[in-house]
Amino acid sequence: MHSVVCVCIMTAIIARHGSVDEQGGNAGDIVSSTLSSRSVAPDGEPLLTVSGVSKHFGGVRAVEDISLEVRRGGLTSIIGPNGAGKTSLLNIISGFYQPDTGSIRFEGRDVTGTRPSGIAALGIARTFQNIALFSGMTVLDNIMLGRHVRMRAGILSSFVYWGLAQREEVAHRARVEELIEFLELEDLRKQPTSGLAYGLRKRVELGRALALEPKLLLLDEPMGGMNQEEKEDMARFILEVNRERGTTIILIEHDMAVVMDISERVAVLDHGRKIADGTPSEIQRHPEVIHAYLGNAAQREKEAAA
Ligand SMILES: Nc1ncnc2c1ncn2[C@@H]1O[C@H](COP(=O)(O)OP(=O)(O)O)[C@@H](O)[C@H]1O
Ligand SMILES: [Mg+2]
Repeated sequence: MHSVVCVCIMTAIIARHGSVDEQGGNAGDIVSSTLSSRSVAPDGEPLLTVSGVSKHFGGVRAVEDISLEVRRGGLTSIIGPNGAGKTSLLNIISGFYQPDTGSIRFEGRDVTGTRPSGIAALGIARTFQNIALFSGMTVLDNIMLGRHVRMRAGILSSFVYWGLAQREEVAHRARVEELIEFLELEDLRKQPTSGLAYGLRKRVELGRALALEPKLLLLDEPMGGMNQEEKEDMARFILEVNRERGTTIILIEHDMAVVMDISERVAVLDHGRKIADGTPSEIQRHPEVIHAYLGNAAQREKEAAA
């Protein structure tokens, strides 16, 4: 009985997906107009609210009293020098780290302290700074793994309602195949990810996160270590996910050209603190940001010369 209901829910989710695509496509250029961006957030309530969050490791203040609001449908980038606390903040949002202080609200609910599996079940997916794929498995199976949170037929019910579990599997496969097509991975679907070029492995990781059909997607340096062509491909996929699929995104990225080009808002971290938060043009003119970046560049030059 349980499985019947679940298969129906799955079908409804898949059927609804088409209309999400269409709606997202009309959202238009969210960067250019504050008015139009307000009109896509019906209740004006942020999707995610981070309030006064801190995380210390011994004497290291990885994250220090950070607050951040993320609008539904938006693309927020987090930038800052290495060690600024960007990954730690993502780890707190995704439940991998428990904050020492502060709270996280998602869709109006306090989710502070929720474990990573619970956070994923709420609709928050992530990718990792260092690729985390099962290298012996194929592209298809790695992306399929991302759907496990959505698979309702457990081991026991799979035995009892074998036919239904099989139908559920078929529905999941259809969704994964659609993703593979979207990410232009058709020719590689049966290949083990170990043999793929770096940029393609990053793309498979994005696919696995998308397989969860997240409301909020957290991307930790998805373009790190990529060549220019790979970066352009990845930036295009990220934009399509945000604007056409309507998925809210938090992006950690070092490439300023990409960040300033595709973000609706940018938050800047330095030494665990948020030093600025605004539109790309506000951030580019922000004195503290300029100081943090120029300061770091000068430091690197000094180290290189030494
Ligand atoms: N699990 C951990 N244990 C100890 N120190 C950590 C841990 N995670 C992060 N840190 C420290 O917190 C600081 C911020 O790291 P991180 O969040 O990875 O920065 P970023 O992603 O901005 O480069 C660094 O000094 C890092 O060494
Ligand atoms: Mg990091």
